[in-house]
Amino acid sequence: MIVKSRTTKETREFGKLLGETLKDAFFNQAILITLSGNLGSGKTTLIQGIGRGLGIKRQITSPTFLIMRSYPFSKERKLYHIDAYRIENKKDAAVIEGEKSIFKDPSNIIVIEWPERVRHLLLKEKIVIILSHGKKEFERTIVIRKNA
Ligand SMILES: Nc1ncnc2c1ncn2[C@@H]1O[C@H](COP(=O)(O)OP(=O)(O)OP(=O)(O)O)[C@@H](O)[C@H]1O
Ligand SMILES: [Mg+2]
Repeated sequence: MIVKSRTTKETREFGKLLGETLKDAFFNQAILITLSGNLGSGKTTLIQGIGRGLGIKRQITSPTFLIMRSYPFSKERKLYHIDAYRIENKKDAAVIEGEKSIFKDPSNIIVIEWPERVRHLLLKEKIVIILSHGKKEFERTIVIRKNA
């Protein structure tokens, strides 16, 4: 599915809808969403919307230096935000590998920016989102699909 966004707010709204949809969804493993796209294409903006939709009050900021941040959205459930931009090799990926168990816990929702850098960690079942810049400054194209 392809969605056109014309403003930052629209991208955030799209994320919010996704968050609201997933809030009460449960699978037999964590829900994984990968966000691909160039610098500034709107990945962090989109996850900010997802956070809103899940009812998270805290502002989600880029965890670039920390790589991973978690935000509880109910008593037992957490949103994990991983920004893999700085991960250049297997050694760097060890930070996330140490937390591999989060992918098995069905109560988690995990959103990864720059998933290409941690391909070996991704689940087969996932929501794949690809953002790209449009012709005009505020235009973005959002492609959303299942697994690949
Ligand atoms: N339609 C739009 N959707 C999302 N962001 C937009 C849009 N139009 C303009 N922008 C701007 O583009 C920037 C997107 O930044 P954001 O941090 O979300 O990108 P990113 O993909 O996470 O980048 P990075 O790869 O550096 O983490 C913001 O400054 C935002 O205001
Ligand atoms: Mg970002």
